[in-house]
Amino acid sequence: MALLEVKDLSIHFGGVKAVQNVSFSIDAGIVYSVIGPNGAGKTTLFNLITGVYKPTTGEIRLDGEAIHGKSPNELAERGMARTFQNLQICMNMTAVENVMVGAHLRLDRNLFKAAFRLPALRRRDAEVREEAIQLMQFVGLEAYVNERADAMPYGALKRLEIARALAMKPRIIFLDEPAAGLNPKETIEVDHLVRKVADAGITVVLVEHDMKMVMNLSDRILVLDYGKKLAEGTGEEIRNNPDVIAAYLGTHA
Ligand SMILES: Nc1ncnc2c1ncn2[C@@H]1O[C@H](COP(=O)(O)OP(=O)(O)O)[C@@H](O)[C@H]1O
Ligand SMILES: [Mg+2]
Repeated sequence: MALLEVKDLSIHFGGVKAVQNVSFSIDAGIVYSVIGPNGAGKTTLFNLITGVYKPTTGEIRLDGEAIHGKSPNELAERGMARTFQNLQICMNMTAVENVMVGAHLRLDRNLFKAAFRLPALRRRDAEVREEAIQLMQFVGLEAYVNERADAMPYGALKRLEIARALAMKPRIIFLDEPAAGLNPKETIEVDHLVRKVADAGITVVLVEHDMKMVMNLSDRILVLDYGKKLAEGTGEEIRNNPDVIAAYLGTHA
């Protein structure tokens, strides 16, 4: 059974059919990419799967269980984490505190609050911090642990978001344009980081415009065009698909 199954998924915003009857499934442990021109519905698809939007029609299943209509919090508890196309970092907090927010989202809220009061539970706060520091090392940000987020370069913030998502201990992580706005060197670093995340056993769903990165990392690729599924397959299949070449690669590559 696939880890994630999406069936006939649609959402309409007034007259805009942002996602239309899209179906696909993702096996556990793979890197699955979603590509398509701007406005194709990639971010909307992520918002549907992660519970930000409720679908107009269709089904989403995680491990066979229907999850459409569940809140982002419930889905996080079931092992979903994501990053955002537009950075959502708390700029007035330190880097490590931002990562700790991810762990906070995973842990029992009341216990976490209590951790600030009760000495026995304060240890847990220390554990969360230690875990967050380890994740910062994992994403290559050990130099920034106590730096305020607003003093960090953009490329580092993109990786900080990935660290925060990893702090939720996800089974499946959704990365929305993790290399957008990065220079070639930073893009290669993110490429390597995504590989590391996948090697750690986390299923990766990636939206990215950098075709080299997509072709390099992806086990399978879904191509969206005007909210519809245009094609799905391996990198090789997608590269040679005439519809894809006409609609997307032809204009970009
Ligand atoms: N909340 C919303 N309200 C109205 N239209 C939306 C909303 N979210 C997305 N859309 C529209 O859905 C379409 C797909 O957008 P999006 O998913 O952001 O595309 P992509 O991420 O592929 O660039 C666009 O036409 C966009 O304007
Ligand atoms: Mg987008």
